[in-house]
Amino acid sequence: MDEEYDVIVLGTGLTECILSGLLSVEGKKVLHMDRNDYYGGDSASLNLTQLYRKFRPDQAPPAELGRDRDYAVDLIPKFIIASGELTKILVHTDVTRYLDFKQIAGSFVYRDGRISKVPSTEMEAVKSPLMGLFEKRRAKKFFEFLQGWRDEDPATHQGINLDKDSMKTVYEKFGLEPGTQDFIGHAMALYLDDDYITKPARETYSRVVLYTSSMARYGKSPYIYPLYGLGELPQSFARLSAIYGGTYMLDKAIDEIITDSDGNFVGVRSGSETVKAKQVIGDPSYFGAGKESEGGKIRVVEDGKVVRAICILKHPIPGTDDSDSVQIIIPQNQVNRRNDIYIAMVSSTHNVCAKDVYVAIVSTIVETDKPELEIAPGLQLLGPIYDKFVSVSPLYTPVSSGERDNIFITRSYDATSHFETVVEEVQDVWQRVTGEELKLKKREEASADK
Ligand SMILES: *[C@@H]1O[C@H](CO)[C@@H](O)[C@H](O)[C@H]1NC(C)=O
Repeated sequence: MDEEYDVIVLGTGLTECILSGLLSVEGKKVLHMDRNDYYGGDSASLNLTQLYRKFRPDQAPPAELGRDRDYAVDLIPKFIIASGELTKILVHTDVTRYLDFKQIAGSFVYRDGRISKVPSTEMEAVKSPLMGLFEKRRAKKFFEFLQGWRDEDPATHQGINLDKDSMKTVYEKFGLEPGTQDFIGHAMALYLDDDYITKPARETYSRVVLYTSSMARYGKSPYIYPLYGLGELPQSFARLSAIYGGTYMLDKAIDEIITDSDGNFVGVRSGSETVKAKQVIGDPSYFGAGKESEGGKIRVVEDGKVVRAICILKHPIPGTDDSDSVQIIIPQNQVNRRNDIYIAMVSSTHNVCAKDVYVAIVSTIVETDKPELEIAPGLQLLGPIYDKFVSVSPLYTPVSSGERDNIFITRSYDATSHFETVVEEVQDVWQRVTGEELKLKKREEASADK
């Protein structure tokens, strides 16, 4: 290992794999290492044996759950927005050639104690049981306004300036109720909290339009999902990186991050070998996460916790028209919380479990010292639960941007059930590592550059 690299990437989670793939395409010399003997880190998908071994080492998987090889259970559940940023990266890098996708069959939201489909057009709004008669009319006008908006045509603006007026102003103009605002802001614009309401409406407008245009692509929901589980995603980006000369080393202990006397990155030590590079990118677990410090230096801090319950069901979720896969969002205000509760369910249609089994993951950001109680409103929607694996994971965040010492640490995966925040993280790390904004090049162009 005496070669010198441009970048060493530690950990093969999705964020790290997208970055190593994109950096390799840019012509950087990348070494990608993982302490595990499998790809994916926390973004891996597990078979039944691995799932029970992880959560319940003393118990073998029940025979009635079927064959081990039919299972690919995600540890961190997320769906891909059909017209979203991850799709753009997948298409531009041509990583889509390694993957098959299926749509998610339903997108639901919780309001006043029950779940309903998220309406995404003015036509669906008028049929939606989410709203009363008068509210439907107001929502119809609101959706017509969004769909009709043309930047260059002031007649479509109805007196609103998207760049100056807040979303509050827009909601008030159409007279929308707080419960309606909840599903627009959280189940369509996918905001994590209500801060957006006082900000200029443009961003919310763009997010709602992304939701509706993604919905229009496949019809049932705006989300798609890779066959055989999310673990396929990091592996596909690793393949991309390898094609562009990236070197992979799995099952490699990372014993030390070596720095010079100023604390700047020099290399990585594994056993008695040291490998040097200009920069290092890695997930928090390689930089002393969960420990007081490493080499006397604190590089990551805990910034909250996320609770996730992987639930095995023998039936589709009640009230979802027997959908084989769904997302359900419980907006924070609906259950007196500060963070939304997310439910992501997939099944054998996506080749992630045996026939007649459904895997639903309920997650949220922890607010109290009783995390399992916090997800109760989500668990209650599932009907009888055959088996349940609950975990509470710390969310780590780096203490510095890495621009000074060339040590770039990614954040832990949040509780959202879609990938938009993962892509924001990729864009942010890319900007810090390269000093430039991430601009997607087509893979063909990239190879022609070489
Ligand atoms: C499931 O995982 C275990 C442990 O990694 C492995 O030994 C086994 O081969 C896997 N089963 C299948 C069917 O892939």
